Amino acid sequence: MDTYVINGGNRLSGEINLQGSKNSALPIIAASILVDGNALIKRCPIIRDTVAMKELLLALGCKVSQEKNLFKVDATNCNKDEIPEDLMKEIRSSIVLMGPMLARHGRIKLTHPGGCEIGSRPIDLHLNGLRQLGATVNEEHGYIICEVNRLIGSEIDLDFPSVGATENIMMAATLAEGVTIIRNVAREPEIIELQEFLNRAGANIEGAGSNIIKIKGVNKLHDVEYEVGGDRIVAGTYLCSAAITRGEVLVKGIIPEYLRSTLHKLKETGCTIKIMNKENIFIKAPEKLKSVNIKTMPFPGFPTDMQSQMVTILTLAQGTSIIMENIFENRYKYVPELIKMGASIIVEGKTAIVTGIENLTGATVEARELRGGASLVLAGLAARDVTSVIGVRYIERGYEDFVENLRNIGADIKRVN
Ligand code: EPZ
Repeated sequence: MDTYVINGGNRLSGEINLQGSKNSALPIIAASILVDGNALIKRCPIIRDTVAMKELLLALGCKVSQEKNLFKVDATNCNKDEIPEDLMKEIRSSIVLMGPMLARHGRIKLTHPGGCEIGSRPIDLHLNGLRQLGATVNEEHGYIICEVNRLIGSEIDLDFPSVGATENIMMAATLAEGVTIIRNVAREPEIIELQEFLNRAGANIEGAGSNIIKIKGVNKLHDVEYEVGGDRIVAGTYLCSAAITRGEVLVKGIIPEYLRSTLHKLKETGCTIKIMNKENIFIKAPEKLKSVNIKTMPFPGFPTDMQSQMVTILTLAQGTSIIMENIFENRYKYVPELIKMGASIIVEGKTAIVTGIENLTGATVEARELRGGASLVLAGLAARDVTSVIGVRYIERGYEDFVENLRNIGADIKRVN
């Protein structure tokens, strides 16, 4: 199994040129199916998830190329309406192909994406939203078949501000007849980026970033070029790599506002944070972090995708920290691996109680999902002796050049096949 071998204890120091955002790129790649022509997506990270989306779009009949960070899609001949099961299993984000495919073809058949390592991941909000736009949705034998003659704008209230459901409904409504109003939408930066991409292609959408989005349907979308913003969760992960190794790092190419709640918590732990010329974040860690309490919430609250990274740095803080995971029901799978390294953590339902210790010690640990896996690397960077993290394919779903970037700021880490 592919493994990262880490010799811990180095203080990290240096600069990171941040990758483009995975969670902005994935829905924007899906949205390129709506474009009657070419979509050019710049700063698209080369990670397992974007490679998987390329395979999916190729299977649907699109022309796709991914040269370095330039992702090109020509959806002119996108003529298939079934997503192959093996590809569906490869990436959960394929669920956001439903909206674009319905808008483009009036039909999509796909297997239920199923849960993953962090929770059951239901899609009821997606399906209900598409039904309210006029689609019929049948679930049989593990397949979902959505069909519609013409999507009709509607007023939709989301029970929960689901990121994926917001994206799916936005994309379906883009080419629907009439006006769609969606309330209680997700306010994540990824929604703002998707709106910007679609409007550049000729859509008529407003309100992304607030809790109400209004979409006036248009007949078609034209060629579009868009550069993806920096990945706020990857940025937060690198900031935590400095925090846990008592180092100092400059992360370049990120809108600090998109990371405000994480920066606020890192300051609470005693880290010094400076914003340098609007799009760079500098962090300098103290000799000893202070314990803090965290509750994950929808944006602009503290992001669930930074929960495992913060728990990890808090294993070495002074005192006890209480973390409450309010978004996903099974997002502490990395904790037993941290305990193998000496961490003192008790998980009770949604809550993790972290008691700070002096040192973590190296061990062989297993990544079981993306952000928890990245957090095991953070622990290895600080632990004494050698840590081997196996199952790195999970980490490489979302982190581009992770080993190279960490080595550039002083980490003793290598990838072993
Ligand atoms: C997106 O997932 C992100 N993925 C996740 O990042 C992120 O953790 C999540 O949003 C929350 O911010 C991408 O953008 C590709 P949700 P998504 O729908 O859209 C419940 C990472 O590490 N829910 O906002 O699947 C759901 O069970 C990944 O990069 C329903 O009940 O998240 C969960 O409890 C992990 N019914 C909550 O909403 C639905 O129909 C949030 O899910 C949909 C969701």
